[in-house]
Amino acid sequence: MKKTSILFVCLGNICRSPMAEGIMQHLIEKTKLDNNILVDSAGILSVHQGEQPDKRMREAAFARGYKLNHRSRPVTTNDFDEFDLIIGMDDSNIAALEQKAPTLEAQNKIRRMAEFFSSQDIDHVPDPYYGGSQGFDLVINLLEDGCSNLLKEISK
Ligand code: 4NP
Repeated sequence: MKKTSILFVCLGNICRSPMAEGIMQHLIEKTKLDNNILVDSAGILSVHQGEQPDKRMREAAFARGYKLNHRSRPVTTNDFDEFDLIIGMDDSNIAALEQKAPTLEAQNKIRRMAEFFSSQDIDHVPDPYYGGSQGFDLVINLLEDGCSNLLKEISK
């Protein structure tokens, strides 16, 4: 299997994308693919740089058996060289990534998390930042489904 690197991207890199990273890391360790797949996450914004994931996201994650260790950082131009897949959570993340992509080849690395959902009822991972606690559980449900299908696609 070819080595694959994946960068998950959301707006602040303190809720959705570090959660996606934590779920994917858990899956690749469980399936002993941690030598073949590298995961990281980043944000469109740099305002939360250096911060741990949002406390509400960490608590929802912990309740579902995940520990999130990431520190927020912004997406860089270099990420488009370093990573094979750059996966945005919603339309605005994808639009911002397309603006940042330095080349056409870099643009072609951009994918949408919802492409990997089992059901097409929802086409993005909703931003939970300004909502209630149920938004964080929904994020985990969507990402568990999407990451599991993403892993199947990569392992083919
Ligand atoms: P995330 O959530 O993109 O899932 O990390 C957000 C975090 C922070 C902000 C917005 C969304 N913010 O506006 O600071």
